[in-house]
Amino acid sequence: MVKICCIGAGYVGGPTMAVIALKCPFIEVTVVDISVSRIDAWNSEQLPIYEPGLEDVVKQCRGKNLFFSCDVEKHVGEADIVFVSVNTPTKTQGLGAGKAADLTYWESAARMIADVSKSDKIVVEKSTVPVKTAEAIEKILTHNSDGINFQILSNPEFLAEGTAIQDLLTPNRVLIGGRETPEGIKAIEKLKNVYANWVPVESILCTNLWSAELSKLAANAFLAQRISSVNAISALCEATGADISEVSHSVGTDTRIGPKFLNASVGFGGSCFQKDILNLVYICECNGLPEVANYWKHIIRINDYQKSRFVNRVVSSMFNTASGKKIAILGFAFKKDTGDTRETPAIDVCKGLLGEKANLSIYDPQVSADHIERDLSTEKFDWDHPAHLQPMSPTAIKQVRVEWDAYEATKDAHGLCFLTEWDEFKKLDFQRIYNDMQRPSFVFDGRNIVDAVKLRRIGFIVYSVGKPLDPWLKDLPAVA
Ligand code: NAI
Repeated sequence: MVKICCIGAGYVGGPTMAVIALKCPFIEVTVVDISVSRIDAWNSEQLPIYEPGLEDVVKQCRGKNLFFSCDVEKHVGEADIVFVSVNTPTKTQGLGAGKAADLTYWESAARMIADVSKSDKIVVEKSTVPVKTAEAIEKILTHNSDGINFQILSNPEFLAEGTAIQDLLTPNRVLIGGRETPEGIKAIEKLKNVYANWVPVESILCTNLWSAELSKLAANAFLAQRISSVNAISALCEATGADISEVSHSVGTDTRIGPKFLNASVGFGGSCFQKDILNLVYICECNGLPEVANYWKHIIRINDYQKSRFVNRVVSSMFNTASGKKIAILGFAFKKDTGDTRETPAIDVCKGLLGEKANLSIYDPQVSADHIERDLSTEKFDWDHPAHLQPMSPTAIKQVRVEWDAYEATKDAHGLCFLTEWDEFKKLDFQRIYNDMQRPSFVFDGRNIVDAVKLRRIGFIVYSVGKPLDPWLKDLPAVA
């Protein structure tokens, strides 16, 4: 039986390995992690991450050919193929701080693989890494082990949180990069054969190592670029009376452009887009390409602008002060159908409103109070560096309440912000919410999920990103 071991039981490692186990019952798959609590959760009824369909897949395979363990060295030592799916956050200190990928976790995983290996192995980069990382990993592996042959493959993951299982079951493509040597080609074939159990072979793309590594960074940069482009146009829509939904639709019907990923919003979030673009920017700078670096840097600038523009809109609408006012925040996760809050725009919006001395009442169906409080007390980039986490300041604690119900969160509020597009928010009883709110009652829709016309009929003053402004807001000074 072929043995696969995956280092890192996170959002990528867990679901990816669960689907491999499901589709390849003759392969023994073990996911290992240094985090005991994460492994305990994978072995329990309450999985550590929320992802539609994941529980079903895990239940079908766990204990048969899918295992979760903290015995990292044993399972890595026994495996034929080792996936490395550890976190690769943005560096917070030293050379490249604020941009470069921090490969500490990757390097320590590579050194451990070298230390415990007694037989030849294929080592697969699943994490998103800077282009040329495989070269460094190869050096670590070959310099630390006697006579063992390691083949490094790059197999970046393209799943999207919220649809991870569907994406893994029917991927647009699987990308495998390897060395163009006979051993490299053999290793590519071996991994290709794993995926070929359920992915059509024409969807399995094989490239050289550097193309595969760079493709992942480029794909995320392109996706984020579409969001920043539509968000930039949304600002112009608000200034001119154009409607971003109509503009997006008209633009997206051009088959060269396509309709997907053209929704205006409060901004993109998630653990990958910002980190991967910053990483791309850093690599461009290191390769003497400042113009290219600046081009990509602006994708993030527009995203930051969109978040601060939203905060400014909230404050300016409410007579230029949010001080002491209760503002309900509905949705904290970075998108619907996930509990993941990494780099969620809600963090920057909430911090902006707290800076205006607003009192926040937050509700998200999948994010706990502890989690929200931790996020609001964490410095930028520190969320993926557990050692840097700080308790929330006593002043901020007084300003934030986390509720377990949208109606509770909106009671007595002056304003209500939608920051995640959860389906349940579309079905809320807005008349009931309006009855319990202060007057005037504001709705700031950062995801364009509510029917603004219907809400205005109830009496709300509604702001929707990129839509013609409510008559109330039109008379106010322009927001930059
Ligand atoms: P994560 O933070 O959820 O999981 C990483 C896990 O690795 C953690 O549980 C951590 O304890 C473990 N770990 C770190 N060092 C370790 C070591 N030396 N030995 C054993 N375990 C170790 O991260 P996530 O979201 O799964 O991302 C992993 C990689 O995949 C990142 O490079 C990310 O950029 C990339 N990626 C993430 C996607 C996403 O949607 N989250 C999508 C595609 C790629």
